[in-house]
Amino acid sequence: MNQNAIGVFDSGLGGLTAVKELNRILPNENIIYFGDTARIPYGTRSRETVLRYAREDVAFLRRHPVKMIIAACGTVSSILGANSPVDDMPFTGVVYPAARAACAATRNNRIGVIGTPATIRSGSYEHALHTISSAVDVTAMACPLFVHLVEYGYTDRHNQITRLAAEEYLAPIRNADADTLILGCTHYPIIRDIIADVMGEGVTLISAGEETAKYAKQCLEEADLLTDSTEPGRNVYYVSDSVSMFRDNARHFLEDAARGQVFSSRI
Ligand code: DGL
Repeated sequence: MNQNAIGVFDSGLGGLTAVKELNRILPNENIIYFGDTARIPYGTRSRETVLRYAREDVAFLRRHPVKMIIAACGTVSSILGANSPVDDMPFTGVVYPAARAACAATRNNRIGVIGTPATIRSGSYEHALHTISSAVDVTAMACPLFVHLVEYGYTDRHNQITRLAAEEYLAPIRNADADTLILGCTHYPIIRDIIADVMGEGVTLISAGEETAKYAKQCLEEADLLTDSTEPGRNVYYVSDSVSMFRDNARHFLEDAARGQVFSSRI
């Protein structure tokens, strides 16, 4: 048992998709979130830069009492691969949990993956999927505009700009007849409705953030680190840029992030 918080970081808002699920399945756990909003996007940067940012994000979270760290960012997770940035507490990225869920969900063994350019370039999801099942065919597409569309709030189901971008990016995956699509960047579930409409009925969407929250619960259980508190847990958010911008954008999909405690912090 351990009363410390779960530390979660992302380059911006996307990691909140993991926080939302953590709040649902572990309602008594405290969460400390760091969104590196001053330096987003990570997904268009070099490997060296993303590694440096990831190290700094982890160091920031470690200045707080945390018992586990989640890299709720597809880009960081992809570049870290199997390397954990901590050796004294559980750590997970989003790639393995999402790949595991996709292999369990597919019926025709055709899986699509979408992510940032750095994620797709790394081949991380293909590697994880093929490690779990050699039978799956993978079609991967980078969707560089999606993160900007989400961060600027172009998230409404009827937004024509986001829909057009989705049609363009998802065409190869539709043509490959994938029945399962990994939203391999934690920002993408925020435009899930548009992606679902474009992919059509019968395609299972896997949210990397949500699956990672479920996997984190499993890790904490196995390490006997879950809290025994019966009080509702608290979320505290830190961002490296403006608090009000974060609140404005976060309120679209996580009410608590708009109302709760948000601090601006240098890292
Ligand atoms: N949240 C990041 C990811 O999952 C995308 C945003 C970025 O490019 O920094 O890859």
